[in-house]
Amino acid sequence: PVDSSFALSLTGKLVIVTAGGTQENIDPVRYIGNRSSGKMGYAIAEQAVRAGAHVILVSAPTNLKVPDGVDFVLVDSARSMQQAVDSRFDSADAVVMAAAVADFRVVNMANQKIKKMETMTLELVKNPDILYGLGQKKSHQVLIGFAAETERVVEYGMGKVHKKNLDMLVANDVSKSTAGFNVDTNEGYFLFPNQDAKEIPNMSKQEMAKAIVEELATLIQSK
Ligand code: CTP
Ligand code: CA
Repeated sequence: PVDSSFALSLTGKLVIVTAGGTQENIDPVRYIGNRSSGKMGYAIAEQAVRAGAHVILVSAPTNLKVPDGVDFVLVDSARSMQQAVDSRFDSADAVVMAAAVADFRVVNMANQKIKKMETMTLELVKNPDILYGLGQKKSHQVLIGFAAETERVVEYGMGKVHKKNLDMLVANDVSKSTAGFNVDTNEGYFLFPNQDAKEIPNMSKQEMAKAIVEELATLIQSK
């Protein structure tokens, strides 16, 4: 049953949500990761199901319970996340990129466990930008990105809105201990290409997820 507290229903819409921090392999037993808990993305997936959407949650490993009613796709690296999202993009109505995608991966993953040594250098190379790629090829799809910034949140955020051809960006000020990685609350701004920024006060990630899904439904309707 669709939750009637949502102003607009997402019934019949396919929403892809990415979540968690990607893992970039170093060798068979080690990876480069980040502190993303996945909470924001999982909360958005849950709220989008409540609003009636068909939700595909593409997630890097987390400690969270998969919300009821989502189709779950487990990935690890940025490249595996890109493959999972790109292959489903044509039929999607919206993509919400809440995942913390590693900017770099290891150039040559070792096939055997690396033995200890006095010094050791890892060569890294830039990962593909999944969201930028979607922005280049989008037709009807609504694209929502996230950004965690420590300074000049609106300025840097608007730069990402335009560069990545987004319909909305959730820009978090992670210099505050009450927002962003690994906490249960969040705050920041909703940024749009042709609309004033909305300042979002501190609230639970579930409440913010609901607000994001409301914006998403409005953006889908106005396409
Ligand atoms: N993103 C992505 N693929 C990447 C890096 C980021 O799809 N390789 C997405 C994130 O999921 C997020 C948005 O792009 O929705 C912004 O991520 P962010 O790390 O803030 O921006 P970057 O473009 O990576 O820039 P920088 O880290 O240098 O600020
Ligand atoms: Ca980044």
